[in-house]
Amino acid sequence: MENNMKQTMSPIRDLKPSLASLEEDVMSGLKKDQKSLPPKLFYDAEGSRLFNQITELPEYYLTRAEKGILITHQNDIATFIGSSSTLVELGCGNEEKISLILSGLENVSDYIPVDISLSALQETADKIKNDNPLLSVQGIRADYTESLSFLSGISQNKKVISFLGSTLGNFEAEPRELFLNQLAQELRLEDGLLIGIDLKKPKRILEAAYNDSNGITARFNKNVLQRINKELDANFQLNNFSHLACYNEEDQRIEMYLVSERIQTVEICGESFHFQKGERIHTENSYKFSVDEFEKTLHHIGLRLRKVWTDQENHFAVTYVEPLNV
Ligand code: AVI
Repeated sequence: MENNMKQTMSPIRDLKPSLASLEEDVMSGLKKDQKSLPPKLFYDAEGSRLFNQITELPEYYLTRAEKGILITHQNDIATFIGSSSTLVELGCGNEEKISLILSGLENVSDYIPVDISLSALQETADKIKNDNPLLSVQGIRADYTESLSFLSGISQNKKVISFLGSTLGNFEAEPRELFLNQLAQELRLEDGLLIGIDLKKPKRILEAAYNDSNGITARFNKNVLQRINKELDANFQLNNFSHLACYNEEDQRIEMYLVSERIQTVEICGESFHFQKGERIHTENSYKFSVDEFEKTLHHIGLRLRKVWTDQENHFAVTYVEPLNV
């Protein structure tokens, strides 16, 4: 009886990043002159949960705008994806966006969600399988910023790789080009990319989105310290750090920091790290794009911007990208 009530869990291929790589990221980042932690460390189970809350905040327009685009242009997007395609979703997070895409498609052969957070991935894979029993769902837990080799030979069908939410904006210029280049290597002529990018807009809108009045972004930012405490046996006092997010107009990016509120020493894996009062740990950049610049970057890599869909306010764009020589 009990067994019958259990929902089947979708299969997950686990390419789990090692604890050693977490330690390496933390130690090397905190030994730099400008202390830093890579943004991928945000996404443990609690960080993924907090990020889901961020996406529903009134100030965080990005997800709302992107979902609006996926709803308004559902049929057009479905035409670009085509039927009997394999859909790969990098950084799937929750199931909401892919559900919008899937409901516009008549016939998709496979859905392959990829995420660094096992809990978020399992939940999304299970929900999608439950809602689409005939769809083949095979999740992959991987740090796709390290390698995309798991994409090789993933499907004989046309494949469309989605990379939504403007996660591309969390890469620096050089790794961004490298990443797009690696993606391009995985594309055959008929394949495509569905990429979401956050567009440039007034500073006041951007800063509000990363300094929400409920303090959820602050909790999301500080959770990285909590994670290091748990996983690397460290002793960060969360109350001794505050959240800072500001727009750098020149570099066209939101910069996020954790600011030390006092002189303090933190122990991580038996090593001591000293912080001055006011010293910052850089935790994230979130670049904002113009469609023209994005198109130039793509062209440089051998990719072509086939289609751009934007919301009414021009806050966000969803783009369909193909290999250049189609
Ligand atoms: C995942 N990424 C696109 C988010 C962003 O807007 O850069 C992460 C985030 N950081 C703070 N709020 C949301």
